[in-house]
Amino acid sequence: MKHLVVVGTQWGDEGKGKIVDYLAKPNKVSAVVRYQGGNNAGHTVVVGGVKYPFHLLPSGILHRQKTCVIGNGVIIDPEILSGEFKTLPKSHARLLISDKCHLIMPWHKVIDGIAGGKLGTTGRGIGPTYTDYINRRGIRLMDALDKKVFLQRVKDELAWNKKLIGIMARQSAGKAVKLNITAAKIVTDYQYYINYLVRQPRVTVGDVSRFLNQVDAKNQAILFEGAQATLLDIAHGIYPFVTSSNPSVGGLFTGSGFRPRSLRVVGVAKAYTTKVGAGPFPTELFDAISKKLRDVGHEYGTTTGRPRRCGWLDTRVINYSKMINGLDELALTKLDVLTGINPIKIAVKPEFNVNLKAIAKAKLKFIKLSGWEEDLSTIRRFKDLPTAAKNYVKMVESLTGLPVTMIGVGPSRDQLLIKK
Ligand code: IMP
Repeated sequence: MKHLVVVGTQWGDEGKGKIVDYLAKPNKVSAVVRYQGGNNAGHTVVVGGVKYPFHLLPSGILHRQKTCVIGNGVIIDPEILSGEFKTLPKSHARLLISDKCHLIMPWHKVIDGIAGGKLGTTGRGIGPTYTDYINRRGIRLMDALDKKVFLQRVKDELAWNKKLIGIMARQSAGKAVKLNITAAKIVTDYQYYINYLVRQPRVTVGDVSRFLNQVDAKNQAILFEGAQATLLDIAHGIYPFVTSSNPSVGGLFTGSGFRPRSLRVVGVAKAYTTKVGAGPFPTELFDAISKKLRDVGHEYGTTTGRPRRCGWLDTRVINYSKMINGLDELALTKLDVLTGINPIKIAVKPEFNVNLKAIAKAKLKFIKLSGWEEDLSTIRRFKDLPTAAKNYVKMVESLTGLPVTMIGVGPSRDQLLIKK
């Protein structure tokens, strides 16, 4: 029996939600776990023509028989989580939330608004929340469950952060930004959303590590779901153009408190590349092909609605992700979006390095492949793909040394080709 982890190999938005939704299906998988990030993520699952854009809930949440888990490495905005919960159909998975999760507080969003602009953050308070976590000033879900403790922690942190925001705002924009909210109001609002969640019959707040170890002891499989992606990893991405958590495989250990004995690592790669926010993007395109990829692929952020930057596939980046995550296989998504582009290019050299100077100096080498004109969206078997599309997939396998086991040809749950 193997546990599974699904990680993004590029800059996020690879379509991990759809792959997690598929892999969560078998009876062997009984829990689906998110281990890092917050509502900066956006996983879209389309079922029966209905689109579910999840930001905090694990993508397995639509499978009634499973338990979805929000691990301690995830940071929570209770208003967002309860709002997302309300959009679920009646038949959804059980939800276990770690009481060690840190909370995104109002001041975190204000600070992100002041400081995150030059990096193009999502403005959801992610970086400042993780900053307080590491700085040992964070407020955890377990603190919020006790009103007295919560009120004192909020009073202390609000006073501190009002001063901090004043200084930051004066230095960055020359004008003061005020945090016009009282500690009592914050506590009332947060407890309202947290109590709503805790009262749901299929929701529990508790010890995730213990639960996952119990699942493992019963010989049932666990599926871990990375949000964002390797190139956005605070340790292994292109620093400082990164998020503030560890989306790569290492994040699952600290972000869930579980050590899988045996782990199948599935990397998800889009058949081309997209990125949101600032920072280097070596294969970025600025021409009609970029526009076509954005329009056909609906490349607009699930979280912020921002148009995504688009470019050619960069297998150097995937090979870097392969090394960091120890990938076993690839899921290649959105192959259908490449229809009508001819020729198609793939960046293959020089070896990718996350050092900013090395990226700026690198002279990229591309290979060119023939494109295809056929619509792929109704194809369900690899052997039925046009020859040029098959060759594209085979080329990705040969350039990465990884088997492509799943191929996405559209947004729906069933638009997935399984290639053994
Ligand atoms: P933050 O995570 O909001 O702090 O943003 C840091 C960087 O990560 C910015 O460039 C964001 O655009 C990017 N980012 C964060 N979450 C996602 C995601 O889910 N998909 C793609 N990019 C993301």
